Amino acid sequence: MRIDIITLFPEMFESPLKYSILKRAQEAGVVKIALSNIRDFATDAYKKVDDKPYGGGPGMVMMCGPMFDCVEHVRAQDSEPGRILMLTPQGRVFDQDFARELSGEKRLILISGRYEGFDERIREGLEAEQVSIGDYVLSGGELGAMVVVDAVVRLLEGALGDNASSEDESFSKGLLEYPQYTRPEEYRGMKVPEVLLSGHHANIAKWRMEQSIERTKKWRNDLWNEYEKKLHKK
Ligand code: 6GU
Repeated sequence: MRIDIITLFPEMFESPLKYSILKRAQEAGVVKIALSNIRDFATDAYKKVDDKPYGGGPGMVMMCGPMFDCVEHVRAQDSEPGRILMLTPQGRVFDQDFARELSGEKRLILISGRYEGFDERIREGLEAEQVSIGDYVLSGGELGAMVVVDAVVRLLEGALGDNASSEDESFSKGLLEYPQYTRPEEYRGMKVPEVLLSGHHANIAKWRMEQSIERTKKWRNDLWNEYEKKLHKK
């Protein structure tokens, strides 16, 4: 997969991209991630990329010119046209299903903006899909883009050291993860559940499933209701 990130602050992405899974996935050639700075496509002496909104109102709006030029330049760097995603609180809310859907693409082009928003013609003209990472307002799309990149890349074949683990986790099945323990067997009077020490694989699997169900009901009743709905449909 190739991921292009279009932003006014490419430096914000450097640290998240150079650790752990995202680092290894790039080194292993599972994903290529390229950063492009919208400001490089400003055409005036002040490197202007935003302007006052028509009709008045507070804040500044990202201009069409530098954005279209940047996206077109980036797009031409690969024969794969890619799926253009704009990070904005108005978008489709990102979740594990969305991440899985995006992990099947050959190329993603993520656009993050600052200021009060984008000129509407950017969305229309580039036919960009809007993506939000949740119902709250961030100061810009950069953190959203990082969240999307992380969630998608870890699903790519070869991104995780051990292949089995990406789909055996919370949300993949629609349930929360069961509790995990490691040594020692007892810590400050708190013991590891007996069944996990038994070596009885069927009992362990059953216990873990029960725990997942119990915690989902207790902590994420919304997910539990969704899970039950899906069970009834089958
Ligand atoms: Cl992707 N961007 C901004 N600015 N705010 C958000 C968001 C994105 N997702 C939730 N809130």
